[in-house]
Amino acid sequence: MATQPPDSPADFALPTGTQEPVSSGETGDVRLGIVGAGKAGTTIARAAIAAGYDVAISGSGPAERIAVIVDVLAPGASAVSTDEVVRHADLIVLAVPTHRFRELPRDLFAGKILIDAMNYWEPIDGVDQELATAPAGTSVIVQERFRSARVVKSLNQLGYHEFEENRRPPGAPGRIAIAAAGDDPAAVLAAIQLVDRLGFDAVDAGPLEAGLALEPDGPAFGVAYTADELSHLLWPRPVHSGGTRARKALAGALS
Ligand SMILES: NC(=O)c1ccc[n+]([C@@H]2O[C@H](COP(=O)([O-])OP(=O)(O)OC[C@H]3O[C@@H](n4cnc5c(N)ncnc54)[C@H](OP(=O)(O)O)[C@@H]3O)[C@@H](O)[C@H]2O)c1
Repeated sequence: MATQPPDSPADFALPTGTQEPVSSGETGDVRLGIVGAGKAGTTIARAAIAAGYDVAISGSGPAERIAVIVDVLAPGASAVSTDEVVRHADLIVLAVPTHRFRELPRDLFAGKILIDAMNYWEPIDGVDQELATAPAGTSVIVQERFRSARVVKSLNQLGYHEFEENRRPPGAPGRIAIAAAGDDPAAVLAAIQLVDRLGFDAVDAGPLEAGLALEPDGPAFGVAYTADELSHLLWPRPVHSGGTRARKALAGALS
């Protein structure tokens, strides 16, 4: 089932600063905020810069503390504070260790589309009963904390190496898929556009609680599926085709 990486990933994983955009850049907001300047955050930042986004990224401290890291790992991105990330963009990726998201104020992301790229992983995050037993997945817990944000679970399925190595332009052979799950169709659409621009086919996974399937131990986690494979996995019944909701939202957005 899994899509193998192509023979020459270097075609699409050139050193930072030399990559061609993965997408021609449709209309829409091209500002992206990223909270978390670690392995996941800087990898997503690098891909977003290559795709033409204006990226601002933060760590847990002042901007100066991550300035060198960002300069080296995501040149072109602005190292800023988390408050500045929120001011910079309406579309924000949350990529902090899962045991630390509660450090962030509840109303920090009010009105923003918040892409939850976090995974709860006990060896790293410690025992957290609420996250470990979340019946509808950890993103529902994240949404409960940030009630005024529009949370979408996405960009969490692949390790940062796999993410980096598998980015492809639209239509390229071997392009794999990343899903997006959320309750706000317009927010899911924004996530889907982001995923596409970053170099992956995007699959609408349904409501936020469907994000459970994208988490560690979920069937869609850590496997390089094509869009068809991932859609069939997440939407086994054709009547609920994964693309339908996104297509409707896209049609609405364009009308
Ligand atoms: N690594 C992967 O391959 C991968 C793939 C998909 C998803 N994820 C998920 O992405 C998240 C981050 O993983 P990672 O591997 O990138 O971790 P990491 O390398 O340890 O980096 C974590 C980053 O988050 C920052 N951070 C921590 N608390 C913060 C706060 N309260 N406000 C702002 N920034 C804060 C850290 O800043 P300081 O250094 O200043 O504390 C650091 O820059 C995790 O939930 C993980 O499950 C990781």
